Amino acid sequence: MYGIGVMSGTSLDGLDIVCIDLVAYEKNKEITLVASKTVDYEMNFKEQLSEQCHNHTASLAKITMMNAYLGQFIGEQVIQFLREQQLLVEKVAFISSHGQTIFHEPVGAEGIFEIPSTLQIGDISYISEVTRLPVIGDFRTADMAAGGQGAPLLSFFDANFLYSSSAGRAIQNIGGIGNVTFVSKDEKAPVISFDTGPGNVLIDSAIQKLTNGEKKFDQNGEMARKGTIHEQIVEQLMQHPYYEMPLPKTTGRELYTTHYLNEIVNEMKGASTEDILATLTAYTVETIKQSYGRYLPLEQIDEIYINGGGSLNGYLMELLKQAFPTKKVAPLDGLGVPAVWKEAIAFALFGYNTMLGIPNQLPSATGARREVVMGKVAYCDGNPLMRFQKLRGET
Ligand SMILES: Nc1ncnc2c1ncn2[C@@H]1O[C@H](COP(=O)(O)OP(=O)(O)O)[C@@H](O)[C@H]1O
Ligand SMILES: [Mg+2]
Repeated sequence: MYGIGVMSGTSLDGLDIVCIDLVAYEKNKEITLVASKTVDYEMNFKEQLSEQCHNHTASLAKITMMNAYLGQFIGEQVIQFLREQQLLVEKVAFISSHGQTIFHEPVGAEGIFEIPSTLQIGDISYISEVTRLPVIGDFRTADMAAGGQGAPLLSFFDANFLYSSSAGRAIQNIGGIGNVTFVSKDEKAPVISFDTGPGNVLIDSAIQKLTNGEKKFDQNGEMARKGTIHEQIVEQLMQHPYYEMPLPKTTGRELYTTHYLNEIVNEMKGASTEDILATLTAYTVETIKQSYGRYLPLEQIDEIYINGGGSLNGYLMELLKQAFPTKKVAPLDGLGVPAVWKEAIAFALFGYNTMLGIPNQLPSATGARREVVMGKVAYCDGNPLMRFQKLRGET
């Protein structure tokens, strides 16, 4: 019995698809990755997605159409993935899809719209129609309706699967945005989770801009490594009010826009592409370092595990090790969870909880009033729960 997890993050780099073994999971909460794949988005599609993430370039018609298109695309890609991996559709209990965040307003705007809200596109009915499987999606809204920020959702996964009684752990995701979960070795201590700031988003935008789209990201941080960090720029960037805001707090692409990047590039006029990339990489590391000092019990952190695409950036990893010389800094793979697939795996497991009506969010991290079961279900043929039971051999 399989669960499929699908994730498309703020980096807009592509669609991560994983298949996990639900039999092993039900037996002893074991996370077994059966297969995984990233479908890279084509540049044109990525640009169109990116346009819909900003007020001044978004169009109502495009968002509506892309919601359907992306849903259909995800469905087709999951079918192709199953075929390539020779996994039987009949054995899949459900697909659980995060969708693509277009806009995220964690606190709420002024006036009558003073209410947290979010929009993920890639409609689950389209995924369900293409695959003929039950599909779970639209997770964040349930948390936000209950007063939460709808993020960071991975804190639930971290608290449940990455706890250790012998080491305090910081689980640091470096996707487009960076976020951390602190899991104390004291089981009763509260789990603390928040967005640290930029992950790869500025590094990606800068390299795409400065190489005229030739490079999508800084492979292993090789270009940045050749540059010199402009410390005074990093210091200046750290003055942003987000880094002093009280918890709970989350951020998104909204803060790290092309406009923001252009300002940095202008400020650094005359600097080489390598210098700009080195400085932006150091900026990401500095936001992590300073926020740990400000919001976490630093002395209680023994190990820092990195997941997300940033874990593949050797230079970024090196700077992180320098920032925390007394702590173990390593990719999450060290704990048996593949660093780049963690988010998709987590969403597969969140979907499992949705199906069974078990809460799948952590109010202490999101700020919600109470525990809720996040996620909505798109039925396809028949009752999805009965399909589940049939696969388990219960009927
Ligand atoms: N080999 C690599 N070297 C450096 N950076 C990488 C590498 N592979 C991926 N990345 C970075 O990771 C990003 C994707 O990370 P991901 O965890 O998928 O983020 P998101 O969840 O925001 O989509 C890419 O946009 C890129 O910046
Ligand atoms: Mg991604």
